[in-house]
Amino acid sequence: MQDSNILSLEQVSKYFYTSNGFFNNGRHFAALNNVTLSVASGSSLGIVGESGSGKTTIARLMCSIYKADKGRVLYDGKEISMLSKNEKQEYMKNVQMVFQDPDNTLNPKLTIKSALSDGIKQHITKDKDEIQEKLKQLMEMVGLPYEYLERYPHEFSGGQRQRISIARALSINPKVIIADEPVSSLDVSVQAQILNLMKALQKNGITLILISHSLAVVSNLCENIAVMQKGKLEEYGNTLEVLSNPQSEYTKSLLASSSYTFMKNN
Ligand SMILES: Nc1ncnc2c1ncn2[C@@H]1O[C@H](COP(=O)(O)OP(=O)(O)OP(=O)(O)O)[C@@H](O)[C@H]1O
Ligand SMILES: [Mg+2]
Repeated sequence: MQDSNILSLEQVSKYFYTSNGFFNNGRHFAALNNVTLSVASGSSLGIVGESGSGKTTIARLMCSIYKADKGRVLYDGKEISMLSKNEKQEYMKNVQMVFQDPDNTLNPKLTIKSALSDGIKQHITKDKDEIQEKLKQLMEMVGLPYEYLERYPHEFSGGQRQRISIARALSINPKVIIADEPVSSLDVSVQAQILNLMKALQKNGITLILISHSLAVVSNLCENIAVMQKGKLEEYGNTLEVLSNPQSEYTKSLLASSSYTFMKNN
């Protein structure tokens, strides 16, 4: 076991039942099939693959929204289900997910200010001025005006809500950000801003797990890449090595169908 790995999956499988299945004789399928991968502290992993290949399932296992049916999920070298109460709290604070669909994750009855300050009060500081300062920084980081803090979730566009959920994930100074398609609903200029923000976070030592359809985005931001297909890990390794010399037919076809131009440029 390597201590430097902040998150790992060891031979993890996750099954779901099909809609007409029930109990023991229901038909189940593997949303993830025997997946092993690890993320070193301070590094970055991009997860790519077609729709339904298991990317979000990996993210949800990593932040224990789902439990593995087989295998182990480790945080800092320890199986998540074996963490003590304190360790579990630490883990829950340190591993923050930015969801693919932010609309379901913000409480419609809370202003953005309360949504953002709850975590800060709980984990960082109770001092009013410090909270204020932190809120200011967060809004700046994600490129939203400070005054918007008084608004409710429904008063924002989808892209703005996405940025708020990024701000919320960052509000409690996590060690790991798991971002599930964080820029796909944003227009190009905002995308660039968020991607730059992710780069800046990495410079500050945050571990980044980024799910994206774009090989260009992943190659730009992530040291390592995991290519998923139908619940299996097709290919996994250093991003530039994998993309410049793909071993699996599936990775080759992903490269061929994308606008990614690494091969041509190099
Ligand atoms: N809670 C669930 N109940 C039943 N099936 C599920 C559940 N979550 C995921 N699945 C199924 O598991 C498979 C993998 O889903 P997952 O959401 O991980 O895919 P994905 O790679 O994130 O796809 P996308 O790019 O469309 O977001 C899919 O077939 C999906 O329908
Ligand atoms: Mg998904």
